[in-house]
Amino acid sequence: MLLLREAKMLQTLHRSLAKSIPESLKVYGSIFHINRGNPFNLEVLIDSWPEYQTVITRPQKQEMTDDMDHYTNTYHIFTKTPERLPEILESNDVINWDQILSIQGCQQGLNEKIQSVAASKSVQIDYSKRFLYITEATLQLKSSNKRIFGRSQEATIQNTGEFRSEIDNFKSILLNVSHSELVNDNWKFGKNEKSLRYIKNCIKNFPGYCLLDPEGNPISWGVMEATCELRMAYTLPEYRGKGMLGELMNAYMEYLQQNEIPFYLHVEDMNENSHKVVRRCGFSAMTCDWHQWKSIPTRLQQLPHF
Ligand SMILES: CC(C)(COP(=O)(O)OP(=O)(O)OC[C@H]1O[C@@H](n2cnc3c(N)ncnc32)[C@H](O)[C@@H]1OP(=O)(O)O)[C@@H](O)C(=O)NCCC(=O)NCCS
Repeated sequence: MLLLREAKMLQTLHRSLAKSIPESLKVYGSIFHINRGNPFNLEVLIDSWPEYQTVITRPQKQEMTDDMDHYTNTYHIFTKTPERLPEILESNDVINWDQILSIQGCQQGLNEKIQSVAASKSVQIDYSKRFLYITEATLQLKSSNKRIFGRSQEATIQNTGEFRSEIDNFKSILLNVSHSELVNDNWKFGKNEKSLRYIKNCIKNFPGYCLLDPEGNPISWGVMEATCELRMAYTLPEYRGKGMLGELMNAYMEYLQQNEIPFYLHVEDMNENSHKVVRRCGFSAMTCDWHQWKSIPTRLQQLPHF
């Protein structure tokens, strides 16, 4: 695999990946932020250039120093030739199988390939498939020659992000790092020191949103990850069923659209309440789904991990 570093090539690759939305979304979203300052120090691997079949984004080596930190040790994959994936993933130069790690993608047909590689390594794989939701605006990037998304970062910074809510005396604001503990304490996949560090980094570098009650307390929120995916959506239990997440999402989506930042999200099968809210907000489920493989090396299986 080749390391693609040159800015012009990364822009060309990003435009080309748009044609494969929604399957390419994880890689497309990572390269969106790589091309805008690369705050997570990610790098892009590609099998050949300018014609390519497979693209993988991952953190640069100096970022993956903690073998237990799967929040950081995360790889994103898009391929036009799944049958060739095992030969690529087998190499420890591409995936460091000695660490706990996550692989994410939005394509059908990769599970069998990734499981076959894992069987040849001393690792245990936890596979999850969830619903991938996107809006019409993100889907349109696929066919549009216009730059619907992709304005300069200055535009993002100039917009304060504050919206008055339709609900009396509530307002939506951008999250800041002081909210990190609250988000971490309520994230089903968080609640530990590594996830707290990860959430802080996300909030510091990408726009997250929260709805404040009249006293200024956060009651509902969502965070953007380095792949442009919206995650960690949460409403405090005492405020549930009152349309708070929808209220938050209206402001959040308006902010992202104004600043031409693409977005999408996933929902677990059984989370009926979330399916209802995101559909009401204009998201549709994609048939390709959202997939994650968490790999745990045998030597680390006895240690506590999250
Ligand atoms: C999913 C979640 C964010 C929805 O937030 P919300 O602000 O309650 O959203 P809504 O008010 O639009 O409610 C959505 C649905 O949940 C139902 N609901 C959930 N909990 C409820 C409660 N305690 N009381 C009343 N209704 C509730 C609502 O009836 C509504 O269904 P409806 O449209 O048929 O009325 C919230 O339930 C939550 O934080 N859950 C735990 C974390 C989670 O699952 N996050 C999403 C990850 S994708």
